[in-house]
Amino acid sequence: MSNPTGNPWPEPTATLRGVRLHAGWLDRPAQEALVADLRAVIAAAPLFSPMTAWGRPMSVRMTSAGRFGWYSDRRGYRYVDRHPSGLPWPPIPESALAIWRALGGATREPECCLLNWYGPEARMGLHQDRDEADFAQPVLSVSLGDDGLFRIGGHNRGGPSDRVWLRSGDVLVMGGGARLLFHGIDRIAPGTSTLLPAPGRINLTLRVVT
Ligand code: SIN
Ligand code: MN
Repeated sequence: MSNPTGNPWPEPTATLRGVRLHAGWLDRPAQEALVADLRAVIAAAPLFSPMTAWGRPMSVRMTSAGRFGWYSDRRGYRYVDRHPSGLPWPPIPESALAIWRALGGATREPECCLLNWYGPEARMGLHQDRDEADFAQPVLSVSLGDDGLFRIGGHNRGGPSDRVWLRSGDVLVMGGGARLLFHGIDRIAPGTSTLLPAPGRINLTLRVVT
């Protein structure tokens, strides 16, 4: 993994409402290596479309690696220790753990690496990440493939929000006072990246669950 600033300190390139953005943290070879590792994750734990509590499938397809995977159905959102196939989730790739260790500033190792796949029409509505037990641990998110329009708000759903385009190789860290901010993806811009063989975006989020 490269640090384009050449600076050993993980200083963000920008801060949005306390969310630390490391734009271009992964160079192209590091992005390709991570995608290769994610292919192995998807082969072991195929993507699926979680159901919302309202009984509609989410537009984003998902899978996970690690001790826990994120799951949703009519009973609600939760972490589970198995893929819907009944098999345990595959381990979190070392390439993803290395990003957490470099930028997370965390005292614990991640227990879930959620992989979100956005096709050209997919989006993710405003939400908080609050299914975890220890909010002192950050959430780290990695963008791969086409650009995604990230929306970041406050601690209430209705308040003002800002938007920023996340590009392939960008890493966001939501920690400290920014850990529970509302956020989502308004849309992606299909065809803006050549990393993936088809239009779309992958987002990884690394989290401590327990
Ligand atoms: C998420 O909040 O789970 C995903 C955010 C993103 O796709 O960048
Ligand atoms: Mn989230």
